[in-house]
Amino acid sequence: MSIGKLFGKVYENVTAEGAGFEGYCVVKTDEKTIFVKYSTPGDVLNIRLISKKNKVFFAEIISVVIPGPNRTEPFCSHFGVCGGCKWQQLNYQAQLYCKNQLVYDSFTRLGKIVCKEWQPIIGAQNNKYYRNKTEYTFSNRRWLLNSELNNETVQQKAAGFHISGRFDKVLDIDKCYLQDDFANKIRLFIKNYGIEKNLSFYDIKENKGFLRNIIIRNSTLAQWMIVLITGEDNETETLKLLEETEKKFPEISTIIYGVNTKTNDTIYDTNLVVYKGKGYIEEKLDEIIYRIRPKSFFQTNSEQTLKLYQKIREYADLNGNEIVYDLYCGTGSISLFIARNCSRVYGIESVPQAIEDANENASENKISNVDFFTGDMRFVFSNDFLLKTGKPDIIITDPPRAGMHPDVVSQILKAEATKIVYISCNPSTQARDISMLSEKYEVMKTCPVDMFPHTHHVENVTLLIKK
Ligand SMILES: C[S@@+](CC[C@H](N)C(=O)[O-])C[C@H]1O[C@@H](n2cnc3c(N)ncnc32)[C@H](O)[C@@H]1O
Repeated sequence: MSIGKLFGKVYENVTAEGAGFEGYCVVKTDEKTIFVKYSTPGDVLNIRLISKKNKVFFAEIISVVIPGPNRTEPFCSHFGVCGGCKWQQLNYQAQLYCKNQLVYDSFTRLGKIVCKEWQPIIGAQNNKYYRNKTEYTFSNRRWLLNSELNNETVQQKAAGFHISGRFDKVLDIDKCYLQDDFANKIRLFIKNYGIEKNLSFYDIKENKGFLRNIIIRNSTLAQWMIVLITGEDNETETLKLLEETEKKFPEISTIIYGVNTKTNDTIYDTNLVVYKGKGYIEEKLDEIIYRIRPKSFFQTNSEQTLKLYQKIREYADLNGNEIVYDLYCGTGSISLFIARNCSRVYGIESVPQAIEDANENASENKISNVDFFTGDMRFVFSNDFLLKTGKPDIIITDPPRAGMHPDVVSQILKAEATKIVYISCNPSTQARDISMLSEKYEVMKTCPVDMFPHTHHVENVTLLIKK
């Protein structure tokens, strides 16, 4: 039957089971499996079918008949519309339990992996205000709530997040709990300044408008960076706005601006100008100071990154003499974190700018036993590379969500390191790759780390030892 006929079909008094795809719980009826948005395990619900994607059905909640034991009141006023922090209706302990389960299920069901030790997830002490970076969009077409639809006087200018599935609409954010509240103050100040001075806000359909994006970054050293991106080149107006922002918030360590007239928001090819400060902020993890520039990648939850990197170091259990490969090294942050504990680290990464950051950070930290290589892993991590650098004792690998290319997995098998420490933000592709590595490796330990509270995302570290 097509979804056209099923759309709107109601199911009453159905029970939601454990979290699955995208963190949605599952309702099983005689005929189908349905993923229910914003449900929690054990909820008894009345639901309505809303869509179907690749044979999977999705439903929304009409009403919660009996709340599941871990259902809780969401704390954010934008919950349900914003699209971020989708697990707020589940209490934090239950979120951690579900994330453990997601890793366990991926490994055992998908990968048929036998792991000797399942270590419990490392939860976050601060599960609000934990991000060190947020990016907001200015728009002249605000997403209107149902209650505002017929109100013609409503303010259309917004600064916030794109609504999922609606590229042209931006939800105006009043208060976001992701980053320190200071970020809210900065965003609101700039938005209100724009409204007061009658500056134009970006129109995505027309690709015009002055205020376009603001990126706000901070570190645990209380350093703050703002990057203001305008959609039109009007430096006089930009400088006036930045002067006011600087006056209002002298705490901001560095202020940067640029003009983006392209149809996409990426700033990687945008020329950026430093208005105030050094053009970067610093983050400290253990003894290492990382310089973070506006275009640099850095893990977005600094406190949990420290715990993640400590876990990686614990699993690597270095004695000072090893050659270590750090595959998919990004800005080399893991390489630098472990460099003083081993003989040499070789990092490989495809983004040249990230390697520039890695080299800069190595030199700033006076670390000389690291070498970074730029290029596609499949081609850089070759037999020649193994010959040139010497075979690794330990391989650390942290690929993107898609996991590793099969050629890279084969090459790891060829390299025959004693240990592999595999970090992933996607337990399914990690399970697939580890299953291939199981030909030569035993899976000793695995430990999830919660880098993204109130979302279903989970980072997982696994130790493999050569049989
Ligand atoms: C999960 S991030 C790793 C982050 C880094 N280890 C850290 O902790 O900051 C994955 C990295 O893989 C890089 N990457 C993606 N595809 C690649 C490829 N085919 N070859 C080399 N690097 C790649 C991305 O640019 C990204 O920096």
